[in-house]
Amino acid sequence: MTDTTRPPIRTFKPRRRPLTPERQALFDRLAPELCVDEHGDPFDPVAVFGRRAPLLLDVGIGFGDALTEMAAAEPQHDLIGCDVHTPGVASTLARIETMGLTNVRLLHGDALVFAQRLAPGSLSGIRIFFPDPWPKARHRHRRMASEANVDRFARLLEPGGVLHLATDIADYAVHAERVCAGHPELVGGVIDRPDWRPVTRYERKGLAAGRDIVDLLYRRVT
Ligand SMILES: C[S@@+](CC[C@H](N)C(=O)[O-])C[C@H]1O[C@@H](n2cnc3c(N)ncnc32)[C@H](O)[C@@H]1O
Repeated sequence: MTDTTRPPIRTFKPRRRPLTPERQALFDRLAPELCVDEHGDPFDPVAVFGRRAPLLLDVGIGFGDALTEMAAAEPQHDLIGCDVHTPGVASTLARIETMGLTNVRLLHGDALVFAQRLAPGSLSGIRIFFPDPWPKARHRHRRMASEANVDRFARLLEPGGVLHLATDIADYAVHAERVCAGHPELVGGVIDRPDWRPVTRYERKGLAAGRDIVDLLYRRVT
């Protein structure tokens, strides 16, 4: 079993792009209300959302199109969308406000660090749609679907909770399938693309380039 108490390996490339003054003002206005902290006490969903509802983690939201679409379509769920990319988080904040969503919060930071605030078994689902591919062999250890990270995610799922990963990178799909299949508490595999999953921005690029999309879905079976 992986030692998940070790600090997570960075799965993203830091990109420092300043916001326009207008976007910065929007960020400063909305983040205190809609963002959760990367570090802190154990996460209390009832204090944050004002109710107890099945909790979903969306890891790597990009510009948040799919996250906000899912939050609107699934009012019975509370969602936390995570990304380190500031312009993407700012766009998502704007969309949350425009759409009047009350069941979504954002983590502007490393999802794997924030995950340390979550209680084991506290999530009903984890969605990882089009994680960074890290195609070079020497960077493979940075993939989100590493053994250590899949083990971290599995521990956060309630029994019956679902880990759903989608990718347009054939080699990533094979790698993720092998890692998930090797986890003693996950059962599942490749599924047909579910109709409810919004087409994400990165997925659209993959489709335009003629790549096949693979959806992998695993349930925690403890
Ligand atoms: C290829 S993009 C896909 C975005 C979106 N899911 C889509 O399909 O359009 C992957 C995203 O994951 C984010 N990311 C990678 N590692 C992360 C981490 N540890 N915590 C939060 N976000 C992360 C990146 O910043 C990037 O925005």
